[in-house]
Amino acid sequence: MTSKRLHSEDQLVEMVLDMPAAPLPRGFVGTFGFSESEIESEALRLHYTIGQPMRWSIDVCRSLSPMTLQINKLKKEKGVFLIAHSYQTPDITYGVADSVADSYALSKEARDSPQQTILFSSVRFMAETAKIVSPHKTVLHPSPDAGCSLSDGITAEDVISLKEKNPGVPVVCYINTSAAVKAECDVCVTSSNYLKICERLPGEKVIFVPDRFMGKHLQDSLRGKKEVLIYDGECEVHAEFTGKKIRKWKDNMSNHGIDLIVLSHPECDSEVLQESDFVGSSESLKEEAIRLAGEGKRDLMLITECGTADRILAETNNHLNLMGSCVMCRHMKKTQLEDILQALTDPLPQQIVEIDERTIRRASRTLEEMFRLAE
Ligand code: 13P
Ligand code: SF4
Repeated sequence: MTSKRLHSEDQLVEMVLDMPAAPLPRGFVGTFGFSESEIESEALRLHYTIGQPMRWSIDVCRSLSPMTLQINKLKKEKGVFLIAHSYQTPDITYGVADSVADSYALSKEARDSPQQTILFSSVRFMAETAKIVSPHKTVLHPSPDAGCSLSDGITAEDVISLKEKNPGVPVVCYINTSAAVKAECDVCVTSSNYLKICERLPGEKVIFVPDRFMGKHLQDSLRGKKEVLIYDGECEVHAEFTGKKIRKWKDNMSNHGIDLIVLSHPECDSEVLQESDFVGSSESLKEEAIRLAGEGKRDLMLITECGTADRILAETNNHLNLMGSCVMCRHMKKTQLEDILQALTDPLPQQIVEIDERTIRRASRTLEEMFRLAE
């Protein structure tokens, strides 16, 4: 989507924020017995909460509202806690989720929720993490084939071989890994605590898997204190951004007299992070944007997945000019309301997360160590 906006100084500023189109229902959606006026008021609620009147038009919201009504009804009837990662589409994050956050906060919420059934709208490794931290709960995952280039790029055997080559060196894994990989590691980290946790580990060496960009950031930050051995995985979304692209955008804007504030996710490469004013997890990027909007700052460039832009647009009442382009994660966007409805109504066997007891026991040590060191 390309749009033009008038800047406060009446300069014409080209704002290019490439956002994916809103997902329409895959097929016919009935009314689920809801009345016309219930469907209409739900459509209005979605339309105004999402706050993007062009992409999420009232017609789009009207086509989705019978499903959000039905999901919210079933959720209550069945006592299900529905959590969604920030990268899920706004009909999920603002339509049906009880909580939306980053990977760290959601793993804690899954662990602490009183409800015995959790539906995790996200990619597989996050749903597996919820099962590891709350093995006695039923964890539903609507899109069992929603992977992640980081998590799919490393196996338990890869970690075992790294440990054999580097005996005694602690292995730190990013949360974007399978349960089997977590079971072979010593401590897990997320984008909100990787620096703090690695700094706190004893010894002069750590192995960090699988994100090479975050690993490079760790190497730079811990230089002189700790040696960091890294793996060669990457997030296919954040790898799209380069220092050159960011500099070009900043220069373009500065030619219009605009000082862009750049917010990036730490899965980006180090040149991108060097060009950034703030680096943080999906949730902290959103919080920082809200803080900047409160200070009257307007022109921001978000270097991350498009879901974070959706959340910022919804939660700042469109007060910000988001410039540059976001990249969509095809894995995160696999989940649609239909999948959630299926998992809530009559889950397919593959939508119920099952992990063997030994893997859960070993992987939960890795996650408990993260909770201990992150606090
Ligand atoms: P967050 O921990 O920032 O939510 O990141 C997870 C992720 O997959 C980012 O690409
Ligand atoms: Fe994985 Fe990247 Fe998608 Fe996050 S954005 S789920 S790291 S592929």
